[in-house]
Amino acid sequence: MRVLICHDTATAACRTADILCDAVAARHGAVLGLATGGTMEPVYALLRDRLAAGTLDLSGTTTFNLDEYVGLAGDHPQSYRATMNRLLFDAADLRRSRTHLPDGAASDPATEARRYDAAIAAAGGIDLQLLGIGGNGHIGFNEPTSSLGSRTRVKTLTAETRAANARFFGPEEEAPRYAITMGIATILESRSCVLLATGPGKAAAVAAAIEGPVSAACPASALQLHPSATMILDPEAAADLRLRDYYETVHPGGGEAPL
Ligand code: F6R
Repeated sequence: MRVLICHDTATAACRTADILCDAVAARHGAVLGLATGGTMEPVYALLRDRLAAGTLDLSGTTTFNLDEYVGLAGDHPQSYRATMNRLLFDAADLRRSRTHLPDGAASDPATEARRYDAAIAAAGGIDLQLLGIGGNGHIGFNEPTSSLGSRTRVKTLTAETRAANARFFGPEEEAPRYAITMGIATILESRSCVLLATGPGKAAAVAAAIEGPVSAACPASALQLHPSATMILDPEAAADLRLRDYYETVHPGGGEAPL
């Protein structure tokens, strides 16, 4: 696992955007796994800037998002489909048919989840999966105690996750209780993955994910089993790491040390 501790939040977002752009440049036809959440907003802003400047070409890229709320159709403003349209897809030279999210309005969410997992496989799997992390260690919406062998399925969100997501909904609206999410085994099948965590609210989960035991109690700890996982952190999210000095020696400022 590569642990990159960047000088500040903006640098961490930029490092993440660079890794995504490198994956797109490495293979016309790259398959990206994408994430939503507040942490990703600066990353997508950078990608929009690069699209506008003509330095990023997503025309050959296929995308699969991690998750979608059950019960929200794609035209609901807080659905992850609408969020992704707003944050990235509307600005991109990306055919909408190449952008995939689970259908939150599907009449049978369990069947939709299985269809989605199969669609990822049919596309040849994910080259690079972008991930955030919940304060409780979730990745996607794999809440604590999710099976490390799980596939895409319906998960019940914890009260903590619903409270964190409530900020995206109006005072009259209830944050959804269920989501269709890629499973942990689905995520581990990506050829590489990059997790971005920023802010003090993520420090405990980040430390458990990187330095704790591999355990369903912290779903992000499953990334210790991934052969190509990169954790990109700002100083606040890195604050609880015991081996912080070591990571900073190996990757000064979140970059590569000359050998
Ligand atoms: C979103 C997702 C979640 C978020 C996580 C962090 O697609 O899969 O795992 O990445 O809840 O959310 P923020 O960035 O809002 O703290």
